[in-house]
Amino acid sequence: MLTRDYDSSPSLVHERLRDTYGPVAPVDLLGVPVWLVLGYSEVREILGDQGGIWSKRLANWRDRAEGRIPPEWPLSPAFEVNSSAFQDGAPLRRVRDAWTSALAPFQDHTHVQSQALERAAKKYADDLITVLSEGSGTVGWADLSAQFARPLPLMVINRLLGFESAQGDDVFMDIWRMLDAGPDAAEATHRLLSSVVDLAVTKMRNPGQDFPSYMLAANPDFTVDEMARELIMLPVLTGDVTASLICNTIVEILVNPHVRASLNDGIIEETINRVALVNPPMANLTFRFPTVDVKMGRFVIAAGDPVMVSVAGAHADPAFGAAIDPHAIRSTRAHLAWGVGPHRCQGQRLATRITAIAVSRLFERFSRIRLALPADQLPWRPSPFLRALRSLPVQFELSQAHTPSGNAGSRPISQGRSQAPAPQHQEPPRSALWRFLQGLRRQ
Ligand code: HEM
Repeated sequence: MLTRDYDSSPSLVHERLRDTYGPVAPVDLLGVPVWLVLGYSEVREILGDQGGIWSKRLANWRDRAEGRIPPEWPLSPAFEVNSSAFQDGAPLRRVRDAWTSALAPFQDHTHVQSQALERAAKKYADDLITVLSEGSGTVGWADLSAQFARPLPLMVINRLLGFESAQGDDVFMDIWRMLDAGPDAAEATHRLLSSVVDLAVTKMRNPGQDFPSYMLAANPDFTVDEMARELIMLPVLTGDVTASLICNTIVEILVNPHVRASLNDGIIEETINRVALVNPPMANLTFRFPTVDVKMGRFVIAAGDPVMVSVAGAHADPAFGAAIDPHAIRSTRAHLAWGVGPHRCQGQRLATRITAIAVSRLFERFSRIRLALPADQLPWRPSPFLRALRSLPVQFELSQAHTPSGNAGSRPISQGRSQAPAPQHQEPPRSALWRFLQGLRRQ
């Protein structure tokens, strides 16, 4: 499935598969045979199943149980985390209830934690914009993926996790190394796992006003191991998926004049819904395994076969997609970008807020942003799950109201808790993270 054609245009590959096989297609995923489900009603049926037919438990994966998955299969690490994303029934509900309680203070607009997080997110966004535009006068170039959209959600997540700030920056760099799967990914993943174990132990001894402490308060029976499995999901699930939603929203605003107009009218969350619908960041979901043989589309899927549900494919199903009007001001909410059923996304409101803040700050601080490449040549990351840009090169013009005076942008960046005015002298950056981000600037 993961060919160059798929990277550049997954929708064409989906259409070819749909034409050839119908709503369910047999594909090869990096050497492992998998069913790809592309039909909207079939995807809904699988995701919404409450009857115990469609399991997420890895123990129900026949080839894995019988030792037929190659040990070096590149997707194994993503599955073997074996967090609540791979549980069903009561064990899933036990952990999800804790997620719901622990996220609530950060997603409920009336809660002080949520308000503080929003202020911090705005400050992170402003600091990132300052750093990426520093030294470029009023006009400059940037990669809005690496310099803005990817770091911002991770900064928010780090704050949610309640790391000490300096340690948080190191963890941030390791998350990035792990997600990019480069040569230092294995070492970074190892360090990251030990950091989340330490974090769980610290919060058990000394709880604070943060996500892990709220999770433990909701379920004091959690073991360190269980906590670590869930905590590591947070940056992985949320970091790059939210970054992708931010990038895809920026692109949609830049290329679609109707959307641009709606942004000016202040209906940013409507724009975000439209992007989740037409270009869902979590394009395909981790596997389900039927516990009995199931007839679906033109095939019988045998019990224990891996099934990958395609949200992007379902949205393009003519039975669903034909009803989408590209010129309508409002877009349907009956889409699957946040999942459906027992595994439905629990962070939708947070992800939408981070995206809204990111996009609003960007279009406030820049009077003009232009894609530096034609939209159809933007580079996409090869990924079986995400639809995310590898880079988002733009040319920008700073708005007059925000043109920096002196070298205000060279201040060290705080963790969003201080509102101190920018010093007028050059200070060394506080951490490897900010040195890294400053190193990405294009003069
Ligand atoms: C744009 C950003 C995001 C998108 C598009 C997204 C989408 C999704 C989708 C499609 C699922 C269902 C997965 C499945 O059924 O296999 C899911 C699950 C989940 N998401 Fe999100 N998500 C985003 C951000 C977040 C954030 C910010 C959080 C938390 C802070 C979060 C927490 C979760 C959790 C806890 C689950 C449940 C996993 C499970 O029970 O299997 N997500 N998300």
